[in-house]
Amino acid sequence: MSFYITCAIDYPNSQPHIGTAYEKITADVIARYKRLSGFETHFLMGNDEHSQNVYQRALELGLEPRAFCDQMEQVFREVWAKLDVSFDDFIRTTEDRHKLAVTTLVQRIADAGDLYEGEYEGWYCVSCEAFKPDKDLVDGECSIHQTRPEWIKEKNHFFRLSKYRDRLLQHYEANPTFLQPDVRRNEMLRLLEGGLEDISVSRTGQSWGIPLPFDPSNVVYVWFDALVNYIAAVGSGTDEERFRAWWPADLHVVGKDITRFHAVVWPAMLMSAGLPLPKRVFGHGWVNWQGQRMSKSRGTSVDPLDAADRLGPDPLRLYLVKEIAYGHDGDFTWERFEERYNADLANNLGNLVNRVAVMAHKYRGGRLAPVPGAISQLADRAVDVVRRYRVAMDEHQLHTGMAAAFDLVDATNEFITRSEPWVLARTPDRRAELDQALFEMAEAVRIAAILLWPAMPASCTEILRRMGQVGPISEIRLDRDTTWAGGERQIVKGSLLWPRI
Ligand code: MSP
Repeated sequence: MSFYITCAIDYPNSQPHIGTAYEKITADVIARYKRLSGFETHFLMGNDEHSQNVYQRALELGLEPRAFCDQMEQVFREVWAKLDVSFDDFIRTTEDRHKLAVTTLVQRIADAGDLYEGEYEGWYCVSCEAFKPDKDLVDGECSIHQTRPEWIKEKNHFFRLSKYRDRLLQHYEANPTFLQPDVRRNEMLRLLEGGLEDISVSRTGQSWGIPLPFDPSNVVYVWFDALVNYIAAVGSGTDEERFRAWWPADLHVVGKDITRFHAVVWPAMLMSAGLPLPKRVFGHGWVNWQGQRMSKSRGTSVDPLDAADRLGPDPLRLYLVKEIAYGHDGDFTWERFEERYNADLANNLGNLVNRVAVMAHKYRGGRLAPVPGAISQLADRAVDVVRRYRVAMDEHQLHTGMAAAFDLVDATNEFITRSEPWVLARTPDRRAELDQALFEMAEAVRIAAILLWPAMPASCTEILRRMGQVGPISEIRLDRDTTWAGGERQIVKGSLLWPRI
């Protein structure tokens, strides 16, 4: 069982913001969930370097573009490390393995007769790196970046995208979950039904890019170049055996603004080259800041390192995953972030972990075990939560999965209130009841921590340690380890995980 998951590769002209970090974090949650479910998982991310904005930025800084990209790689890697994003591979489009894969694929597309020379005249938005038909402009501006596109006219090479419209429609029909969520799928179906035009896939007069193998006066259009990273990283053009083992990808995670490239252009390129299509594309929504898409160029961005420094990387991860319905847009505000931190973590989960450890030590020296034959009051609840969690996570409903895990946290808090361990402790003949109650709360917290681990890896590893987990987290398996277990365990006390602010 293997699972190959990718994110969009970022333009490194500026550092990540919470919007781009959101994508990496949510993909990381999926990757970690798959690992927990026993899949051999390959999680790819990287940087998309051949963009004009990257080139421009390097010039402004007086740096060679490649040297600038080397610096930015480090900046990106630091952010992803801080946010605990567990990628297995990081690809850059200036690497040889990528260039080779691009050249090979472009040649295959040319050999299939799908490239021809033509002249392009029209609008081009450099921030989107995309040609813009008039109907996509609002008051003459790009609707995503609110900037005026450039008018360009040049001779270049075109890809016969129009030829693949019917096959794409058939593919959508035969594979109802190819593009998710449904709003994205419907959007793309409408686009396909309206017909496709061929697209220009090379640029003249530019030195920053990969030269076309059969016409080095042109460089490959940056999207035609970038999309190939998904096959380049697993050996296309360099290691065919590895390529066959990993391709097709199980899931491309991308933002809604670039769904068309992934769910129309990319599959058509693969069809032309005779390669299998990715199994699924998920187009997530935007993280907004004051009602607008968070974006560095518009000055509406929040630094993820700043947010992680304030309350911790795990609280930030949980906030983004649990607060925003996956597939929809959502807001980041400092007020809401603090509010959720206090509600979910300081007052709820953190407080629960603390109470369980304190009571376990106060009443039983930290040693807990179930009472033989006792009927568990939380076990059924845990079974139901695990079932709902898995259904949600398998459908990429990450927010619902997290909410399910918190149902178990809530149920455990209610159980403590109901069972009143402090009263049981005062009555010697209720000793067994207290044993059972203490065991149950620790067991429920253990299961909740496994379910929340994909979103809060460091904190949940610590919670599991406190609940008596022995052995490495990498060996935990969802089906085996989230069933109600009966073993004895030693609970460990610790400082407050999330002090209230
Ligand atoms: N380089 C292209 C992707 C090429 S993939 C073969 C690109 N780069 S980007 O840096 O502009 O964006 C990277 C990803 O972040 C994209 O999936 C984009 O949709 C996503 N996001 C950018 N701003 C975002 C938000 N405010 N919110 C959520 N996702 C955001 O596009």
